[in-house]
Amino acid sequence: MSHSLVIGGTKGLGRVVARKFAGRGDKVSILGRNPSPPSDLESGNVKSFTADISQKEMLLRSLQNVVEAQGKISYCVFLQRYRGQSDDWEGEFHTTLTATRNVVDFLVPHFMDHGDKGIVMVSSIFSKFVGDSQPASYHVMKAGLDQLMRYYAVLLGKKNIRSNGITPFTFLKEESKSFYLQNRPLIDLYQGIIPLQRMGTAEDSADAVEFLCSPRASFLTGQNILVDGGLSLVWPETLARSLKNL
Ligand SMILES: NC(=O)c1ccc[n+]([C@@H]2O[C@H](COP(=O)([O-])OP(=O)(O)OC[C@H]3O[C@@H](n4cnc5c(N)ncnc54)[C@H](OP(=O)(O)O)[C@@H]3O)[C@@H](O)[C@H]2O)c1
Repeated sequence: MSHSLVIGGTKGLGRVVARKFAGRGDKVSILGRNPSPPSDLESGNVKSFTADISQKEMLLRSLQNVVEAQGKISYCVFLQRYRGQSDDWEGEFHTTLTATRNVVDFLVPHFMDHGDKGIVMVSSIFSKFVGDSQPASYHVMKAGLDQLMRYYAVLLGKKNIRSNGITPFTFLKEESKSFYLQNRPLIDLYQGIIPLQRMGTAEDSADAVEFLCSPRASFLTGQNILVDGGLSLVWPETLARSLKNL
């Protein structure tokens, strides 16, 4: 049985990913600052662990608990998102980059000896493009995360641990769905500019993560899948002209 560790699996996309792993029969360990909602823990194979991953000692204690309680790891997915109130540069740096490195470095000797193994880092469109909805820190740390993902692809290749990423465009998740669905002009705008003519969902991104965390992706490493309905392919001039009907 595979054992999948979901960092940031208590809400949003992480929660959908954790449910997907549980649905396919994995042993699942969920890590967040808060415990997982009890409804997600009904299956005996899903366990919740808590730590602020930006605090190294607390993180390592919690990871030790994961391994002792649930055994060796097959897959680890990084979905944490800094949403603190303090200095966002420091917060993003410790939550996105330092914590990810600390988790991977701890886990390397704790991956299973056999079978498919891998890590997936969830990035953002702002690792490559510049937008006004996020601060500089988010852009820079997600760009760094992409390179960390490629670094580990090479470093861990000889241990047969694959390292990949996904890059979702803004997606509908349980927590934000009603905001978008009540804002018809915004939904129409997204439908108008996205080649696949709809907004993506957390489910779409979770499917891509699940694929990367499976033997179906056994020869894929160092890759990043864009889950954006084709939006990033459209040249900005074309987009601007179509919006202005020019
Ligand atoms: N939402 C989007 O449209 C979108 C678009 C592109 C990319 N992304 C990326 O997709 C990933 C998931 O996004 P989301 O919107 O689903 O995020 P979210 O709803 O804010 O969930 C973030 C998760 O990270 C955990 N977390 C945050 N800080 C933590 C800390 N210091 N220690 C431990 N756990 C921590 C949270 O758990 P606790 O609160 O329990 O700590 C939660 O489980 C993120 O990496 C985000 O950058 C999101």
